Amino acid sequence: MTNNAKKLKAIETIRLATEADKAKNYAKALEFYQSGIEDFLAVIKGEPNVEQRKSMRARVVEYLDRAEKIKTYVENGNDSKPQVKNNHRNTKETKLPNVTRTGFNSKPKTLPSSSKAYGVPSTSISSDNSSKQEISHKLLKKVNSTMGREILNTIVDLTEIRLDDIEGHVIAKRALEEAVILPNINPELFTGLRQPSKGILLFGPPGNGKTMLAKAAGTEAKCTFFNVSAATIMSKWVGEAEKMVQTLFQMARNGQPSIIFVDELDSMLAERSDNENGCARRVKTEFLLQFDGFMSRQEDRILILGATNRPQELDEGILRRFTRRIFIDLPDETTRRNLVSKTFRKSKTKTSFSPTELSKLAEFTEGYSNSDIVSLCREAAMVPLRNMTREELAKVSPSQLRSITFEDVQMALNVIKPSTNPENLQKLREFASKHAQVS
Ligand SMILES: Nc1ncnc2c1ncn2[C@@H]1O[C@H](COP(=O)(O)OP(=O)(O)O)[C@@H](O)[C@H]1O
Ligand SMILES: [Mg+2]
Repeated sequence: MTNNAKKLKAIETIRLATEADKAKNYAKALEFYQSGIEDFLAVIKGEPNVEQRKSMRARVVEYLDRAEKIKTYVENGNDSKPQVKNNHRNTKETKLPNVTRTGFNSKPKTLPSSSKAYGVPSTSISSDNSSKQEISHKLLKKVNSTMGREILNTIVDLTEIRLDDIEGHVIAKRALEEAVILPNINPELFTGLRQPSKGILLFGPPGNGKTMLAKAAGTEAKCTFFNVSAATIMSKWVGEAEKMVQTLFQMARNGQPSIIFVDELDSMLAERSDNENGCARRVKTEFLLQFDGFMSRQEDRILILGATNRPQELDEGILRRFTRRIFIDLPDETTRRNLVSKTFRKSKTKTSFSPTELSKLAEFTEGYSNSDIVSLCREAAMVPLRNMTREELAKVSPSQLRSITFEDVQMALNVIKPSTNPENLQKLREFASKHAQVS
C-alpha cells in the first residue's frame, strides 16, 4: 500500500471512531481510535515532509487524548464524562454508558509462537515449553501480567542476522561490540571507567542497516532483546502508556542483560512543544525518568538502542542521554562493490562480471543506499527471465538460467533509482558533524 493509501485508510478509521464517539458507542469508538492511531503512526513513519509529519503527530496526540478520556470513563463508571474537544462533535453529549472493555485489549493475549521466542539468551534456551515458561515467569516478576505479556511479544529471538552479514559500518560494529558483546563475555572487566554506554543512537538515511545492526548486536550479545516502537507503547494501551513504559523497563531489569531497541525513535520521542500535557508527552517523560534511573545504577545491564532517520527531531534532553551517537551513512564505493557481489553470491545467482565491471557498478551506484543495492540486484536477477516465453519459463530450472551480466545490471540501473532525498542527506550530514560521537 502506498503511504497515501495508508493515510486515506487512517483518516477513514478515525472518521469511524468519531462517528461511534458521537453515537456514544464508546467501545467501538475506542477500537477505531486505537487502530486509526496505529495506522497514522505508520503513515508518519513514511512521510518525508516535516510539516506534514508535525501536523499528523499533533492529530495523533489529540486522538490519543480523546481515546484516553473515553477509556478512563469506560473503566471508572459514569462520573468522568470526557470533554469533547473537536468542535465538529456533538456538544450535547451526556453521560457515557458504562461499557466494558469489550473490543479494547480484551482479546486473550497468546504467548509468542516459536518464531518469536522470548527470554533470550537464545543459545541457552532449549525450545521446550517448561524453560520458556520459567523465563517468562522471571521476566513477568513485579509487573502487571497483561501488560507484561504484551511486552513479551516484543521480545525477539534473534538467530539469523549476524554482524558479519552487514557490509561496512566498521566503527558502528566496533561500538556495539564494546557496548554489548564484550561486556557479556567478561562483565567484571567492564566496570568503572570501562562501564559500557547505556544509550546508543544509530541515525542515518533509511535502508543502510540501522535495524540490521541493532538486531545483529542483540543476537551476538545473547541479550534479552525488546524490539519496541511507538505503536507498541502508545496506541494499544491508551491511558496506560506510561505504565507500559514502566513495565518494559522492569522486564528489561528482570531479564538482564537486556537491550531495549526503539526503532523509529523519533515517532515516540520527538520534540513536541505544542502538546505539553498530552499522553505522548507523558510517555516521553516516563521514558526519560526510567532511562535516568538505570543510568544511575551501575549494576543495571541494560542498553537502550535507538534508531532514527530523523535525529534532528529529537530534543536535547533525549540526545544527551544517548551518549554514543553513530552516523550510519550511505555506503562508500568499496562497500557497494562488496554488497553487489555478496548479494548475488548469497542468493546463489550466477554472475559473469569481470572485476573491472564490478568496480564500474560500484561507481555507478553512487548515492544508492544498501537496500537500493539489494533491490537493484533483485531487478537484475529478473532480466534473464524477461525474454522467456511462458512455456520456457515453466520448464527451466534455476541452475539452467544464464548468468547475470554487466548489461543486465545496467538495465536494472534504469529502473531502480537512489531512494535517498539529497536534502535530507545534507541535513543528516550536518547533524552528524555537530552531534555524532562516532561516524
Ligand atoms: N550494511 C548492510 N549490509 C547488507 N545489507 C544491508 C545493509 N544495510 C541495509 N541492508 C539491506 O537493506 C535492508 C533494510 O535495512 P535496515 O537495517 O532495515 O535499514 P534501516 O533500519 O537503516 O532503514 C536490509 O534488510 C538489508 O537487505
Ligand atoms: Mg530501520
